[in-house]
Amino acid sequence: MKRILITGGAGFVGSSLAVLTKQYQTNVEVICLDNLSRKGSELNLARLQQNGIKFVHGDVRNKEDLERIGAVDWLIECSAEPSVHAGYGESPSYLINTNLLGLIHCLEFLRQSGGDLIFLSTSRVYPIAKLRDLPLIPENRRFILKNTDCKGVSPRGISEDFTLEGSRSLYGATKLCAELLIQEYHQMYGMRAIINRCGVLAGPWQMGKVDQGFMALWVARHFFAEPLQYMGFGGEGLQVRDVLHVKDLFRLLQIQMQQISSHSFGTYNVGGGNENSVSLLELTQMVEECTRKTIHIGQDPKTRDADIPFYVTDFTKVNQKTQWQPEITIPMIIEEIHTWIQKNATLLRPIFQV
Ligand SMILES: NC(=O)c1ccc[n+]([C@@H]2O[C@H](COP(=O)([O-])OP(=O)(O)OC[C@H]3O[C@@H](n4cnc5c(N)ncnc54)[C@H](O)[C@@H]3O)[C@@H](O)[C@H]2O)c1
Repeated sequence: MKRILITGGAGFVGSSLAVLTKQYQTNVEVICLDNLSRKGSELNLARLQQNGIKFVHGDVRNKEDLERIGAVDWLIECSAEPSVHAGYGESPSYLINTNLLGLIHCLEFLRQSGGDLIFLSTSRVYPIAKLRDLPLIPENRRFILKNTDCKGVSPRGISEDFTLEGSRSLYGATKLCAELLIQEYHQMYGMRAIINRCGVLAGPWQMGKVDQGFMALWVARHFFAEPLQYMGFGGEGLQVRDVLHVKDLFRLLQIQMQQISSHSFGTYNVGGGNENSVSLLELTQMVEECTRKTIHIGQDPKTRDADIPFYVTDFTKVNQKTQWQPEITIPMIIEEIHTWIQKNATLLRPIFQV
């Protein structure tokens, strides 16, 4: 019987990975630890219970909360303050203590008890100014990337060769510091670890809010007829992201966990890629078609400190290692989120209401 601990296991990604693991694997014990700080994460507890997953109400900032779980074969680190806007104009201590000190506690827990690590890092390790400098042109309903000889940039998107020089928000910095520490634990203690720098992840059970989880937010605000805004870059909704369904992420993790004895360490850009990219304006149209609802979307032209106009993942490196590629398209993701909201409207209304 394998034991898998998922920190942040009541969150969107953590709970989804936990449920999918129980559904697709036999002989596995899944334990989810979470402090339930994310609004709506408590709604995931029933799903965990229904799928035979043990929930531990704990905090990665307290190393004792991890220690009392006992040895595990895998730790999938999904706990975080996941907003790139966190810390601006407020104290950064929760962000730093959770994302960085919490990760150190996870590393120490694994060093002492054994077990391999999957770390969910972020595309936000790449510097904001350098991403803003990408040559973009507004065309039709989105920003298009022009040809460039910038290292790590190609028509496929941003690869691991993109520069790490420059500032990236405290969120991105905590994740990059975490990556460096993981690499040292691998080198010094032989800890096996995979780091996935994820772009936007989406799917049902994401309690989307203005500063994180825009796919669920977009569908929900249409469904509940609540206001939305195009924020930044003139307020025109041209900014582009690629999107990956959490189930596609799960399929990748399954392969990586099987390969760990031959590939004991690696850092990969993971995301939906060019074919799964969308601008906000395009997203609105897709969501309108799915929900059959149209709402007024306001414009806030002001670009916030951490906003970027374009990010698409070049996932060539991880594809070459694993043969993995995304399968679930953006219209399918929207449809699934919509069905989830329809089925759980009463439960979800207070989460998505302004
Ligand atoms: N969702 C995305 O688009 C995305 C993209 C890139 C990377 N990631 C990373 O994936 C991971 C999961 O993100 P998510 O979208 O599921 O976010 P989420 O907010 O839904 O889940 C994070 C969970 O961590 C919990 N948590 C916060 N502080 C904690 C603490 N101190 N101790 C224990 N639990 C704590 C929260 O209650 C929440 O349930 C994060 O590390 C995030 O940085 C997410």
